[in-house]
Amino acid sequence: MTRTPLIAGNWKMNLTYIEAQALLEDLVENLKEAGHKADAVEVAVLPPFVDIRTVQTVLDGSGSGIAFGGQDISEHESGAYTGEVSGTMLKALGATYAAVGHSERRQYHGETEQVTNAKVKAALANELSPILCVGEPLEERKAGKHVEYTLAQVEGGLEGLSAEEVKKVVIAYEPVWAIGTGEVATSEDAQEVCHEIRDLLATKFGDEVADAVRVLYGGSVKSSSIVDLMQQADVDGALVGGASLKADEFAKIATYN
Ligand code: G3H
Repeated sequence: MTRTPLIAGNWKMNLTYIEAQALLEDLVENLKEAGHKADAVEVAVLPPFVDIRTVQTVLDGSGSGIAFGGQDISEHESGAYTGEVSGTMLKALGATYAAVGHSERRQYHGETEQVTNAKVKAALANELSPILCVGEPLEERKAGKHVEYTLAQVEGGLEGLSAEEVKKVVIAYEPVWAIGTGEVATSEDAQEVCHEIRDLLATKFGDEVADAVRVLYGGSVKSSSIVDLMQQADVDGALVGGASLKADEFAKIATYN
């Protein structure tokens, strides 16, 4: 497999810029001590927007290879969109990624498939890699419709993209029932859906694209569950929420092998 694994920490709405600085300095130290090699496993953090300048400053010249990005991105380029942050602004700070369509954005901010798709395109237009988040709620899982539901979100998010553009996208499968609940999906559950996502990519965009795109799992990932997850053929990393707020735990997750 030629895909470099990606372990990304989504800090969600946590950490003032001072706390962010302390956590990141600890993380850099912990990764160094654990012998982390950035070319073997890529590590990224997704801070709240107001922390990003601080994150940039800490990482600049740290030699850690840690990447960063936004937890969201505006679908618009600039103008009268109060409260929004554009891809241009993120790119100017040195961001690499922008999460798009996280279930908390879909659930609490009413983000539709159309908005998610527009945000994926806004990220790509600014040379950011979108981390497209998909995954089913509990009812869909219980009804056995989790694959169908998740693939529809993938199709919606990637609508209108060329094969070359899709190669730059990261897809994060995050079953809603596993987010922040301590209820981690089994590694087989994760593999089942990540595999179906890759199959869909192969059908729609060809084998080269399917081989290139990184598909992550997210939902209550901890250092105790990462090894099993990473042994799955179609799981290329993790999108970590709660456990990314502890430098030692996140460093253990990122140096799982
Ligand atoms: O973006 C991260 C996911 O929502 C997972 O969060 O690890 O706290 O369950 P969690």
